[in-house]
Amino acid sequence: MTSSTEDIRAAARLLEAGKLVAIPTETVYGLAADAGNPDAVAAIFTAKGRPSNHPVIVHVARDADLSRWASEIPQEAHRLIEAFWPGPLTLILPRAMNVPLAVTGGQDSVGLRCPSHPLAQALLKEFRSGEGGLAAPSANRFGRVSPTTAQHVIDEFGAPGTGPLAAVLDGGQSDVGIESTIVDLTRLATHGPVLLRPGGISTAELERVLGCAMSTPDTAAPRVSGSLDAHYAPHTPVALVASSMLDEVLRHLAQKHRHVALMAWSESSATRLAALTSLRMPADPQAYAHMLYAGLRELDAERADIILVEQPPAAGAWQGVNDRLRRAAFDSTGVLDKLLA
Ligand code: TXA
Ligand code: MG
Repeated sequence: MTSSTEDIRAAARLLEAGKLVAIPTETVYGLAADAGNPDAVAAIFTAKGRPSNHPVIVHVARDADLSRWASEIPQEAHRLIEAFWPGPLTLILPRAMNVPLAVTGGQDSVGLRCPSHPLAQALLKEFRSGEGGLAAPSANRFGRVSPTTAQHVIDEFGAPGTGPLAAVLDGGQSDVGIESTIVDLTRLATHGPVLLRPGGISTAELERVLGCAMSTPDTAAPRVSGSLDAHYAPHTPVALVASSMLDEVLRHLAQKHRHVALMAWSESSATRLAALTSLRMPADPQAYAHMLYAGLRELDAERADIILVEQPPAAGAWQGVNDRLRRAAFDSTGVLDKLLA
């Protein structure tokens, strides 16, 4: 059920009163609080179990006055905003003095995003008459799979009133399905624009608009929890397997009577899928991303010994998907070998 205008108004009042509200965006659902209220922002970190030195993204309404949040808005930012806002792109800019340190994780920069989901936009317009900002990380416990439906959020935090959430707005299944692309523009003179996290918008699209190559992060880059090696992980171990190896691995696991959940995308995997707890994924990167987190949650619920994921193609359009799968599998290194032993 999609939330009504009345629900949106009520959510805005709760947020203005310092409460936490889960909101739909086109990427994933966010756990939102008033970005101008340090206590409300602190409650996000408590609910998620997230370290307090990790910054959160500030979501703003279309045509918001960005000087309230950023002390400097370079040409590059204007070009990216023109091309991709509202949409799945977060810009890291030098923070304005009055932005609470709770939002920036104590850093000098602030992450800004203008989401395109109509419900998120309606809420941002209603909240503090469009003049405010909503701090919102993905609405999942720290390190876990991001939610792409209102039900996923309730599975994580409980129904409104029973846990940390005052309300959950329902905007249907998130379109993009993986988190926003993050571009750091705080060190242009020395590093150029830096891609901190691949996502809904590809490197090729960014480079076309900026007219220059994107750099990759160095050790001095701002902290991004989404770039921790282990993140986005289900409870069941995850192993990535090349298409060419899939048959052999499945045969060996069957011999050992292992309970396998399979996530596969290629044409040739169709016959294997029939025999297993499995999910047929689209062969198109955008459609795959749209289904990814719901798929991981569904397979996780099988409580299998392992979730085998057929490695998607390496092409640039798959960058965001491959990034999330690699991190989801990171903590499970060695598990497949043990199950095969
Ligand atoms: O699509 C998205 O970006 C979703 C939706 C809800 O908007 N949000 C999201 O938030 O993925 P979160 O907190 O799960 O991931 C945001 C990332 C974090 O890795 C955080 O470290 C980074 O953005 N970030 C936020 N502010 C930053 C800053 N000032 N400097 C560097 N990184 C920042
Ligand atoms: Mg997250």
